[in-house]
Amino acid sequence: MTNLTVHTQPAPPASKPAIEPPLWLLAELTYRCPLHCVFCYNPVNYADHARELSTEQWLDVLREARALGAAQLGFSGGEPLLRDDLEVLVREARQLGFYTNLITSGIGLTDVRLDALKAAGLDHIQLSFQDSTQQLNDFLSSTRTFDLKKRVAASIKGHGFPMVLNCVLHRFNLPHVGRIIEMALDMGAEYLELANTQYYGWARANRAQLMPTAEQLREAEAVVARYRKEIGGRCTIYFVVPDYFETRPKRCMNGWGSVFLGIAPDGAALPCHTARSLPGLEFPNVTEVSLREIWYESDAFNRFRGVGWMKEPCRSCEERDRDLGGCRCQAFLLTGDPANADPVCDKSQAHERVIQVVKAAEARAVSNERPVLFRNDANSRKIARDHSQVRAVGTGIAIADAGPGSPGGCA
Ligand code: FES
Repeated sequence: MTNLTVHTQPAPPASKPAIEPPLWLLAELTYRCPLHCVFCYNPVNYADHARELSTEQWLDVLREARALGAAQLGFSGGEPLLRDDLEVLVREARQLGFYTNLITSGIGLTDVRLDALKAAGLDHIQLSFQDSTQQLNDFLSSTRTFDLKKRVAASIKGHGFPMVLNCVLHRFNLPHVGRIIEMALDMGAEYLELANTQYYGWARANRAQLMPTAEQLREAEAVVARYRKEIGGRCTIYFVVPDYFETRPKRCMNGWGSVFLGIAPDGAALPCHTARSLPGLEFPNVTEVSLREIWYESDAFNRFRGVGWMKEPCRSCEERDRDLGGCRCQAFLLTGDPANADPVCDKSQAHERVIQVVKAAEARAVSNERPVLFRNDANSRKIARDHSQVRAVGTGIAIADAGPGSPGGCA
């Protein structure tokens, strides 16, 4: 195992701040998906977790989470529309007082289902596109869905839903940012989320192909700034620079066990979307443990809460309360130890690894050294098989740069 930590200071006095209730529940209803996106954040071995909670079990999750204090609810996946009980869950969520958001590829979102979801009380829809061009949209998802998505966007607006258009950005489509914004404006989206790829899950497996250059990012940022000025409040555009181009880490999930509670399709409770890749953590299942106990008592949710778990350089850093050491998943993927500082931080001894990845992207005119790895069941099963030995010793399955469970690539 790579251990880059230097212990130079005694641990700070153990302070135990009160644990606030969760605010945001993400219900990942299924890992099944009609798309095969190369940047999907789902676990690369999702095929190992094919079991899904029943309708009754999901209803219990919603009730328990609301009783705990959660107020925002995202229905996600995979593709949540593949569950034919989605409307039942939305209706219950509405009655419980959640603000509900459907996070969807749009595949399967027919007028009939839109009517039913409207009647059930759905508040909001987030629709993903892979690009503003049919060619790239369809390549990145390995489907022919671009025209269908455009029709679905029109239907969503026709049904009076507020709509976020989401597009994940990377070196293939960053030069299209202006056209993506135009597309969102044409579709009447109230929000456009230009989500620069974060390198977890399938995106980590395809990092060499997806990593942009600094110049691409600068140009895209300038385009976004120009549009923001021109369009005023017509559409709110979110654009966040990818971590690898920063020198301080993000306060990931607003802090581990702080506001976010994710439930995977099989009922595993997760403190972040990709926590499943972390080694040495047992994620409690909602079919066996109450949500209250999971949130307040479980090791999985307490392990990285607050600042008491930190090693150097985070432990003595004056910025530790602001960024909370950054992202645990990124620390694991880049150093092999989730308790290390997020290497995005230039105080981390592993920061050079981030610099090298960015430099490699700069040196590459076209990322064609190896084919992209599409998210599909066959690839997922192959990855799970290839890592069965890793699984047998209880470590996480991830495409990591260092440490246990680090196969170093899977294309
Ligand atoms: Fe898991 Fe950041 S994505 S802690």
